[in-house]
Amino acid sequence: MNKGIVLGAVLALAGFGAGMYFAKQDQPPPVATTGSAGPSYAGGFKAEGDAAEAVKAGVASGNIKAVAGPAGDAVMVVKDGESIQEAVKRAAPGTTIQVLPGTYHETVYIDKDGIRLIGVIEEGRRAVLDGQGKLNDAILYSGNNVVVENLAITKYKGNGIMSQAGNNFEIRNNLIVDTGVYGIFPQLGQNGVVEHNVVSGIEDAAIYVGMSDNIHVAHNDVFDSVAGIEIENSRHAIVENNYVHNNTGGILAFVTPGLPIKTTFDVIIRHNFIVGNNHDNFGAPGSTVAGIPPGTGVLIMAADDVVIEGNIISDHKTAGILVTDHANAANITVDPESEPNSDRVKILDNTMLDNGYDTIPEVKALMLTELQRGNPDIVRVGPSPGSCIRNRGRYVTVGVKDFAECDFSNTAATETYLLPPVPARVIAPDERGKIAYLGVCSGCHIYTGRMIGPPVQVIQALYMDNPQGLADYIANPVKKRDDYPEMPPQNYLDAATRLAVAEYMLQVKN
Ligand code: HEC
Repeated sequence: MNKGIVLGAVLALAGFGAGMYFAKQDQPPPVATTGSAGPSYAGGFKAEGDAAEAVKAGVASGNIKAVAGPAGDAVMVVKDGESIQEAVKRAAPGTTIQVLPGTYHETVYIDKDGIRLIGVIEEGRRAVLDGQGKLNDAILYSGNNVVVENLAITKYKGNGIMSQAGNNFEIRNNLIVDTGVYGIFPQLGQNGVVEHNVVSGIEDAAIYVGMSDNIHVAHNDVFDSVAGIEIENSRHAIVENNYVHNNTGGILAFVTPGLPIKTTFDVIIRHNFIVGNNHDNFGAPGSTVAGIPPGTGVLIMAADDVVIEGNIISDHKTAGILVTDHANAANITVDPESEPNSDRVKILDNTMLDNGYDTIPEVKALMLTELQRGNPDIVRVGPSPGSCIRNRGRYVTVGVKDFAECDFSNTAATETYLLPPVPARVIAPDERGKIAYLGVCSGCHIYTGRMIGPPVQVIQALYMDNPQGLADYIANPVKKRDDYPEMPPQNYLDAATRLAVAEYMLQVKN
């Protein structure tokens, strides 16, 4: 654009004054630059070698991390009153879709690569996806290199933003309020960023990273939910600089047994404000998170090599840091294929204040056995071999007597586990059932135990010879069990995928 035109446009807008907003509807869309890493203050330091490569790839430039690769040239604009899903249908892979401020009542399903769904914020007004308490999900995507940015999402019953098996994702600067079970829920993805989101009022996990690798969760404000930030059955994750408050449990790293990926390890939880997570637990009865004792700052369960560094952890009535194994946890069915202990936990220096002042009876009993007085900051139950702690004398601790001294004091050498864009996950047609199962169903159904929905074993007994019957049920579920919530319809999956997922569910073995 040449300068004269810009200046002319500015003068014209200034001239119209109050009438401007309506006029704007017919103007070309405003320039909406994305928050992805772009050029940055050059500073006095020049990256070299590997770091230079990473910066060139747009990965490690300061606080904004980018992994989806550069945006393409194609841009589409969705206006208030139009449908975002229609735009996605028409968009070629690699298209940026700008969504103008307005209210959109829909579920957006993205099954293409390289789609960047970017809300345009004008004078504080956003594109609002409003499920009106009726729709299940706001955004479900299975494409690779997808960016979801600047949206407001509210009143959905299932998920705010959920992804299934997409690599290289960026979920940034969204406002997610009161959206049911999961706020931001990337599952089965590699190389993803969840940053600068505000998420509240979620019945399970506000930010839930499931079965994923190379993840960065940073600068989010997460509150009034059952679980704040959850790293589950995932590897190589950094959770840093988040503000996590007034949830039941703050930051969790754990293994849910019964899922196809069996481990969580290599998680760094650092420099977060984890404050006053004492909310009543309003998780669905029987779900894993319903077992979290209110007043838990950080919970480690069966996850290995978790480093906890430089956090402010204050005002948690049960404990600041609780390390446990599967055997001691509520609502957990032990899976013989999941190693149940939290091995090699590394607790570096953290600022801990006012924790453990009204702890649970189990912890009180443990304190008695150690003749420990005071309110516990750090509690460990169950085996935790190879663990270490720095400056243990600063805290009231229970169960960490056998922890060694850590032989390192910080994680500064590990800036990120993100990678330059990794190859897209390619899903062969015959894998569709499996991917939908892992991506969608396993969020609520596990093999043996109760999660949000009944165990897969029970479903197999009901539908063993009737995959079509199962496929029909999930397209249009009816309420069957008094002690479970309703199952959301899966009719956004096409009929072939519904049958494929039914067949897959009926033959899984764990
Ligand atoms: C958001 C959570 C959730 C998701 C996702 C989910 N389910 Fe369910 N499912 C439930 C709940 C809750 C019930 C129990 C409903 C009831 O009994 O009224 C249920 C029940 C079922 C049943 C039992 C039907 C019967 O006749 O008793 C089947 C079959 C089933 N789900 C299949 C699936 C499949 C396949 C998927 C993935 C495509 C899936 N579910 C995804 C929550 C979920």
